[in-house]
Amino acid sequence: MIIAIDGPAASGKGTLARRLARHFGLAHLDTGRLYRAAALRALDAGGDPAEEAVAEKAAKAVHAGDLDDPRLSEERVAQAASVVAAIPAVRRALLAFQRDFAHHPPDGAKGAVLDGRDIGTVICPEAEAKLFITATPEARAARRVRELREGGETAIYEAVLQDMKDRDARDSQRRAAPLVPADDAYVLDTTALDADAAFAAALAFIARRLAARPGARG
Ligand code: CDP
Repeated sequence: MIIAIDGPAASGKGTLARRLARHFGLAHLDTGRLYRAAALRALDAGGDPAEEAVAEKAAKAVHAGDLDDPRLSEERVAQAASVVAAIPAVRRALLAFQRDFAHHPPDGAKGAVLDGRDIGTVICPEAEAKLFITATPEARAARRVRELREGGETAIYEAVLQDMKDRDARDSQRRAAPLVPADDAYVLDTTALDADAAFAAALAFIARRLAARPGARG
């Protein structure tokens, strides 16, 4: 079973993906960390993440061990990630890792939950259930500020909101795998939902999808 979860920054997709993975006993991959890892490699090498040759070389070097680097959550890395993510050669370099994880999940799990921007449209169009998680930019910025402050960082709401709008624009307007819901995705607006309510809505949708599968009883 593959569950695809897409959506913009701080829409709540990561929290939801982790909970669904735990609930169904599936492996979880936060694909944003692959783009962040590629961006961090480019920054560490002193290169310009917007330069195709630099970004492609960095993306090709990304491996599983990179995904635990605590620096991946830095805002400068998030911004650089959305710059490298617009380069088709970078997306190509990271494709096999994601498909391999989905089809051969680690630790003998019987499936995987992947979250990102193009899981339902490009990486796993065959996923059994696709969710597109969204919320207003203001709600998402408020969540990100809370997360940052809980992590001991200082965060200014207006600056976070602006960064988020910049990244949304880059992610939605790029030509390579732009952020759009798949035709068969369930669009869930979490502006007025807490994590429990979003989880309940997602579970109900997945149950409907599984019941409608060929061969399902009921
Ligand atoms: O956690 P947050 O939502 O802030 O961002 P992320 O999921 O870690 O993704 C960082 C950046 O990587 C995004 O702004 C996208 O540009 C890019 N990305 C992508 O293009 N495709 C994915 N499947 C995941 C992330």
